Amino acid sequence: MTTARNRRDLLKTSALAGGSLLLGSTRREARAGQKTAANPTLKTITNLRTIHGNFTDREIPDETVETILQASVRAANSSNMQTYSIVVVRDREKMRQVCNYRGSCMLLYCVDFTRIKTSAEALGHSYWPDSIVHLVTAGINTAFAAQTAVIAAQSLGVDCLTTNGIHRGDMERVWTLLDLPKSSCFPLIAVVMGYPTKEPDHKKGRLCGPGVIHREKYHQLTDKEMKQVVAAYDDKARHLALNAAWSNQGHKHYLDWLFKVWLKRDAAPTPAETQMLGLLKRSGFIDLQKT
Ligand SMILES: Cc1cc2nc3c(=O)[nH]c(=O)nc-3n(C[C@H](O)[C@H](O)[C@H](O)COP(=O)(O)O)c2cc1C
Repeated sequence: MTTARNRRDLLKTSALAGGSLLLGSTRREARAGQKTAANPTLKTITNLRTIHGNFTDREIPDETVETILQASVRAANSSNMQTYSIVVVRDREKMRQVCNYRGSCMLLYCVDFTRIKTSAEALGHSYWPDSIVHLVTAGINTAFAAQTAVIAAQSLGVDCLTTNGIHRGDMERVWTLLDLPKSSCFPLIAVVMGYPTKEPDHKKGRLCGPGVIHREKYHQLTDKEMKQVVAAYDDKARHLALNAAWSNQGHKHYLDWLFKVWLKRDAAPTPAETQMLGLLKRSGFIDLQKT
């Protein structure tokens, strides 16, 4: 069973292992990426990388956090209802209890209809978000806002870890520690921000070709393309692997390690996953009887 600690260590080690950057799936794509990165916004996006929890004690100034929050809420959102809440936590110990990581500041992004419901009630309307559609739509709004914060932070020299550590272990603690409403509110993702103790030596690569990008219609991978995908993950210079040491651990391909080791730990629904269903039911977004 992979513990939170060795998950952290693995991701950290993999991010710190040396090598060169190649973002696209072909040289042409990589060249295009480098060319477009001349634009400052694209440069910020291209420079995004996760700091896997190794943040210093240095604090982010309050004004910088405010600027990041102002940028975060600029993200597109369905009907401009902003069906999310952002809980800002600066207490490092509380941060650790909530998401298992510490930085200078944590932004907890929750799908949240409480404000909308309260406004409806105040004006004598009735509004109750009770379906999976509400959850999915609000989830998109919430994730967009979170990623916008990450980009804004990066543009200001602040690094981030996006983590679903909030969903590990006893999730009830997140409600308890932060006084979250029990209904119509669900903690979706945490963004921990800070300054790294050590710069990662490389950026993780990404696939950006067949199997990821489909043009005009969906394209199933051919055998040749499949082999290219496997080879891309095996190519250590591409840095697509979570675990750079996969070949030393007796695996022929990186994806063998991914499926045999990394994903095996999730083979059966974990207690946390089972708990998540129960908490989603309590939040009112899904009725388990109907699923
Ligand atoms: C939903 C989500 C959950 C994640 N959870 C964790 C986590 O708990 N711990 C961690 O170290 N990284 C976490 N990450 C970061 C990913 O590991 C990281 O984005 C990925 O390996 C690619 O690396 P990069 O962001 O440096 O390019 C998470 C990212 C997302 C989007």
